[in-house]
Amino acid sequence: MKPNNKSWLYIAIAVSCSLTAIITTLILVTRPRVDIAPVVGGKIFTSEDLKKYDGSSSERPIYIAMNGLVYDVSAGKEYYLVGGPYHYLAGKDSSKELNLFGGAIIKRKYPVIGKLN
Ligand code: HEM
Repeated sequence: MKPNNKSWLYIAIAVSCSLTAIITTLILVTRPRVDIAPVVGGKIFTSEDLKKYDGSSSERPIYIAMNGLVYDVSAGKEYYLVGGPYHYLAGKDSSKELNLFGGAIIKRKYPVIGKLN
């Protein structure tokens, strides 16, 4: 059968879909799998410093440390102020809890503002 105009269109669509699939696969396979968000602010915190930012005052920002990084979770203050469901996670290193539940949300949602010493 001789290819007509429509066949060329189908061939072009098939080729571009395959190329997209190949390129996407290559990007996914070769990208570096770094689990750590880039540190935007360079501040170094001690556990003692973090205690001030535990959501006990709505005047201060709220910070949580997870896997060595400090996240500013102030934008989710309804979770972290006194009386909030996750207040107990704020102002400290909550890696243990967050590696079980909620850590992926924190990483996706909040900026890293420093590191835990
Ligand atoms: C020890 C256990 C748990 C920990 C440490 C934990 C921690 C977290 C954290 C850190 C967040 C992100 C909050 C934010 O947006 O800033 C979250 C979200 C949430 N958690 Fe939990 N969680 C736990 C158990 C549960 C359970 C048992 C439920 C349900 C019965 C639950 C329901 C939710 C819901 C509905 C959200 C909001 C999800 C969203 O915004 O998409 N969590 N959790």
